[in-house]
Amino acid sequence: MPKSRFAPTSARERLVFALDVPTVREAEALVKQTDGKVGVYKIGMELQFAGGLEFARDLAAEGRKIFLDVKLHDIDNTITKAVRNVAKMGMTFVTVHAYPKTMRAAVEGLAQEGNPDLCLLGVTVLTSMDEADLCAAGYRGPIAEVVEARARDARDAHMGGIVCAATETRRLRPILGDELVIVTPGIRPPGNAAGDQRRVMTPAEAVQAGSDYLVVGRPISQAADPAAAAEAVIADIDGALEAVPA
Ligand code: C5P
Repeated sequence: MPKSRFAPTSARERLVFALDVPTVREAEALVKQTDGKVGVYKIGMELQFAGGLEFARDLAAEGRKIFLDVKLHDIDNTITKAVRNVAKMGMTFVTVHAYPKTMRAAVEGLAQEGNPDLCLLGVTVLTSMDEADLCAAGYRGPIAEVVEARARDARDAHMGGIVCAATETRRLRPILGDELVIVTPGIRPPGNAAGDQRRVMTPAEAVQAGSDYLVVGRPISQAADPAAAAEAVIADIDGALEAVPA
């Protein structure tokens, strides 16, 4: 299977820093503090509703890689057209929920726009959900099987990659091969509290398990020295890459 054109080539490129702050001013400060230290900046819903979309465009125009974590899910026509417009924004990653129809509509939007530089990511099952949550939402678990089915659907829809818990990566890599990238949140550098994340791994463990990109938020944003915290994550990734060739 061909290797994904979105596969990272260095430890730094693998680090996705989640700018989970309420204002663009705070996000700008974090970007300034971590300049040159992280591969990708992730802009989520909180910031999107406070000027984050314009901010994302500006950062991309400066040549930074941006992950727009918008988790789209709607009727096909709306998804296709939304993705067409995202494809004009200079983003590197954008998320949609990993429903087969949603992913196919997203891929169609990307094809219509003809932008090879945007990686569509399917969010399998949110890492905040447990079996009971999934059941309450009308699904029949176990979670691992739902995640696996959605990974297959992402592959079949020709998505660029998936988002899943780092603890699920080992099971999913054989399904996805090297064609899709795997992006994993729930990363905690050694010595950091897990907080509200249920299934966590260290950066080194996540890379050893096969994650391509690691999403790290609070361990960097709430550190006394965000640049040093980012460097510590990269050093941990580097250690793992020496054992597992990139
Ligand atoms: O602060 P922390 O490192 O836990 O941030 C993780 C980031 O990854 C947050 O932006 C969160 O929204 C995102 N995320 C997640 N679990 C998912 C998908 C995204 O934690 N399944």
